[in-house]
Amino acid sequence: MATTPTNNRGTWNSKLGFILAAAGSAVGLGNIWGFPTQVADNGGAAFILIYLFCCLVVGFPVMVAELTIGRRTQKNPVGAFKALSNGNPFASIIGYWGVLCGVMILSFYIVISGWTLAFVFEEILFFLGYESMAQTIGDLGNGPKNALFTVGFMILTVLIVTGGVSQGIERATKTLMPVLLVILAILIAYIFTLDGAMEGLQMYIMPDFSTISGGLVLSALGQAFFSLSLGMGALITYGSYLNKKQNIVESAAYVTIFDIGIAVLAGLLVIPAMFVAQASGVQIFNPETGALFSSVTLVFDVLPEMFHNVGGLIGMLLGVTFFILLGLAALTSSISLLEVPVSYVIDEHKVRRKKAAWLIGGIVGLIGVIVSFELALIDIFVAIFNEIGLPLGGLMICIFLGYFWKTENALIEMEDGYENVRQSKFAPIWSIFIRYISPLLIALVLISVIWDLLQGLL
Ligand code: TRP
Repeated sequence: MATTPTNNRGTWNSKLGFILAAAGSAVGLGNIWGFPTQVADNGGAAFILIYLFCCLVVGFPVMVAELTIGRRTQKNPVGAFKALSNGNPFASIIGYWGVLCGVMILSFYIVISGWTLAFVFEEILFFLGYESMAQTIGDLGNGPKNALFTVGFMILTVLIVTGGVSQGIERATKTLMPVLLVILAILIAYIFTLDGAMEGLQMYIMPDFSTISGGLVLSALGQAFFSLSLGMGALITYGSYLNKKQNIVESAAYVTIFDIGIAVLAGLLVIPAMFVAQASGVQIFNPETGALFSSVTLVFDVLPEMFHNVGGLIGMLLGVTFFILLGLAALTSSISLLEVPVSYVIDEHKVRRKKAAWLIGGIVGLIGVIVSFELALIDIFVAIFNEIGLPLGGLMICIFLGYFWKTENALIEMEDGYENVRQSKFAPIWSIFIRYISPLLIALVLISVIWDLLQGLL
């Protein structure tokens, strides 16, 4: 095995560049749309605690595993598992499963990202007084309009991915991530000047443990995998562009903490914003059941309303900034979802990057157009590929690494960039997590879900 990248598949230019690119992949709709919605849906702070537990106990060890597999093999997920198992077809299934999850998750991801783009225009049109046009563009149920923005977003994603690793992906995220943080901070400071925000804060930090159930734990686990971009080989692929000087453990820790931090910040904006919207007359909870009215569209139902109520130039500017921010975060994530199938086609089928990106982008775009007209598919895709698919992928990665490739070999790979890793406390703890604790937790959650599903069928 070569110790330096000999096949010119490109590497990250700098240490920070990689961390930002991986953080860019992690931070996206999952943080700003998914996390706050799940928090509101699952009783507030109690969900946050379980979510943090899932990130630290399952997510972080799996992230280290994915990055190590990627850097060791310098391959896409399918090629990586083939290489480490001497071509065992069962191992490559893990890779193929990842490619499939990537395509399917991206196909609804671009629809929601398309909404984000649409609302940039909606805010401007509303401000200029073109209310009926604003309404059309902001109508989440308008299929043709959804399809248009979905395809637009897919094209943006393809354009960045055709630029390759350091020119395209690294350069884009390096500038976008810091801007994102600043804008988020400004919006949070602003929202707390409005009526109702404090009520939201209360829900956000006071746990109600009566809401905890098997379903909630699965949601938290699925959300952790989704938000950290784990379970389908996205970080195997990003790890394959890592150079040998980088400390994988440290990088993974930064990315995990950064991702959790942005989610918590986004919740601090969106949850109070929901209550601000409520204070001004928008119904967000069903008064009888106490449940959220609609989950998939929540952020897009509530926030534009809030920006309109703020009104005037300020309201418009806040809205436009917010949706640009969300769109950019989504873009740095969608490129990592697309990079998995694209790198697979480049490596295993010897297709040029440009052709591969347009080919896969075309397929995903087509499915995305169908989803644009049939929004109910989003919930179905989330259930299959996100809530079950990603933890399942994570489970297979743990088992493969822990029992076939062996944690000892992974630790040897980690020594590049972290010389004393095998003497450190990290080594035995991580090995125990990868071999026993993380797979056991994932398996328990998956079994309880399948059990519930069967009960529902009987
Ligand atoms: N993590 C991204 C988000 O929070 C979504 C994402 C990007 C993803 N790449 C991934 C999810 C790979 C799972 C696997 O929006």
